[in-house]
Amino acid sequence: MIKANITSTGKYLPKNIVTNVDFEKIIDTSDDWIQNRTGIKQRRLVKKNETTADMSTFAIKDLLKKRNLDPNDIDVIIIATITPDMTFPSTAALVQKNLSANNAWGFDISSACSGFLFALETGSALIKSNRYNKVIVVGADTMSSILDYTDRNTCILFGDGAGAVLLEKSHKHGIIDSKLHIDGNGADFLKMEGGGSLNPTTLDTVNNKMHYVYQNGKQVFKHAIRGMSEVSCEILKRNNLNSNDIQLFIPHQANKRIMDAVANRMGLKPQQMFSNIEYYANTTAATIPICIDEAFESGKISKNNNLIISSFGAGFSWGSMYIKWGI
Ligand code: COA
Repeated sequence: MIKANITSTGKYLPKNIVTNVDFEKIIDTSDDWIQNRTGIKQRRLVKKNETTADMSTFAIKDLLKKRNLDPNDIDVIIIATITPDMTFPSTAALVQKNLSANNAWGFDISSACSGFLFALETGSALIKSNRYNKVIVVGADTMSSILDYTDRNTCILFGDGAGAVLLEKSHKHGIIDSKLHIDGNGADFLKMEGGGSLNPTTLDTVNNKMHYVYQNGKQVFKHAIRGMSEVSCEILKRNNLNSNDIQLFIPHQANKRIMDAVANRMGLKPQQMFSNIEYYANTTAATIPICIDEAFESGKISKNNNLIISSFGAGFSWGSMYIKWGI
């Protein structure tokens, strides 16, 4: 049976570091509060004119260099993002042009913090179709473009960044199993209402701050712990894995307290979970591929290891995936 194996990884983080102390100067908050409630110390934010397509392009270049590939080798580019450069054309098209990837087609996927997981499932299906050899899946978000920097409830939580993986065929390694969910009953708890067909952009939508992230933090917090832990436990169970069989668990990096609670419910020890939230905050679709790249580069995951990745985000959307690491 063909499997989609991750054969290279890449990432890009903007150079510009914004610390919690920097936020103390512009909103009523404190470094202590942010660290204690979220685990975040700093985040990276783009400079003016740096976009989701730019960050995705850099992440893919990093991935291609490590695998010694040419952009013309790419068959498909899938970009998971909720902050595309423009509503259309797709970010994937802009990235294809930046790279001169002349043999690629591609598209964007929008599912907020679960975007990368959903895109990875899609990329995996394309590989398993046996029609494509090299599929690149990117998670990238410029969250600073949709945040209200006067709203302390949301602006401290997010950062900008991009991560990418290359999928190729394997018979032994790669994505073994996954379980994904959406539930639109959660739509009102985490959303950006302005600019779509429901509320086309007007002076009123701008004045009413409808082009910014709105979040009911408590509701999202509660559902995130339950959603990620239930679906990840189910993935363990149906693959006959117990907690000791897992070398690394990579949860979506939204809040360290959520991540710890999920790992705990899965019966994992703290050292089995990968975390970099303190440096980058929540980069939405980018958290998991950035973690995958850092975990691999630092030797925290190696060939034949069992990796579980799990996400939760707007929609609600959530899921878990079991990967037998193959490089
Ligand atoms: N600095 C200081 N105080 C803040 C603050 C900040 N940056 N943000 C909120 N507060 C205040 C609130 O206004 C509230 O004050 P009040 O009681 O006077 O109204 C108080 O802190 C407590 O707020 P509460 O909502 O109980 O905090 P919390 O423990 O739930 O933490 C979040 C808030 C946002 C960190 C938390 O709910 C969370 O992480 N939710 C999920 C976020 C998430 O995962 N989002 C991404 C999608 S996956």
